[in-house]
Amino acid sequence: MQLSKRILLRARGAFRRPGVSWGSKLRIGRAVALTGPVTLGDRVTLYRNVEIEGPVTVGAESFLNRDCYVRPEVTIGERVNIGAFCRLVTDTHDIGGPHRRAASPTRHDPIVIGDGAWLGVGVTVLGGVTIGAGAVVAAGSLVRSDVAPNTLVAGIPAKLIRSFDDSEAAGDVPLTG
Ligand SMILES: CC(C)(COP(=O)(O)OP(=O)(O)OC[C@H]1O[C@@H](n2cnc3c(N)ncnc32)[C@H](O)[C@@H]1OP(=O)(O)O)[C@@H](O)C(=O)NCCC(=O)NCCS
Repeated sequence: MQLSKRILLRARGAFRRPGVSWGSKLRIGRAVALTGPVTLGDRVTLYRNVEIEGPVTVGAESFLNRDCYVRPEVTIGERVNIGAFCRLVTDTHDIGGPHRRAASPTRHDPIVIGDGAWLGVGVTVLGGVTIGAGAVVAAGSLVRSDVAPNTLVAGIPAKLIRSFDDSEAAGDVPLTG
């Protein structure tokens, strides 16, 4: 739970809110906004302008690039890479009558992202979706149904492109985005 003074300064108040906990070697950019309860594992990286409203868990060694928007009831596994400008949007409404189609109340349908998954830049995931471990979601996709583990999906809405044969996998080198 030890943060260096430099990192604390960069956090600019993100941790003044109650209910935020983190592991060792957190890396955090400027203007990150965390509303607890948020649990960050060891060696998590949050680039600038990431906004997370809990309850949210981010597993060890996961990486959220700049401007990711993460809503309540999201569970992100370990070694997950989430590209810039992704949106994990659990909020939804029943469809109401014509006076206000977004009927009250707002609810949060959970999102789960499995270990090792990779979401490219600008992906949107809607509530109720589980993205399996080792899956890849191509840049710009909209995910509204579950993604099987170790598959590549792409598009709006995201569709299966192929399954991975992991004998062909690239090295286990951490990605940067
Ligand atoms: C998915 C990705 C990794 C490519 O993987 P790949 O296995 O090399 O896939 P291919 O390029 O062979 O494409 C396979 C199919 O998926 C489609 N596809 C790939 N990326 C797509 C995308 N972002 N949106 C829609 N379709 C896509 C291709 O058009 C192709 O379809 P086709 O077979 O009908 O022609 C790459 O397109 C991508 O999205 N990378 C993310 C980059 C990024 O976000 N970087 C910043 C954060 S790290």
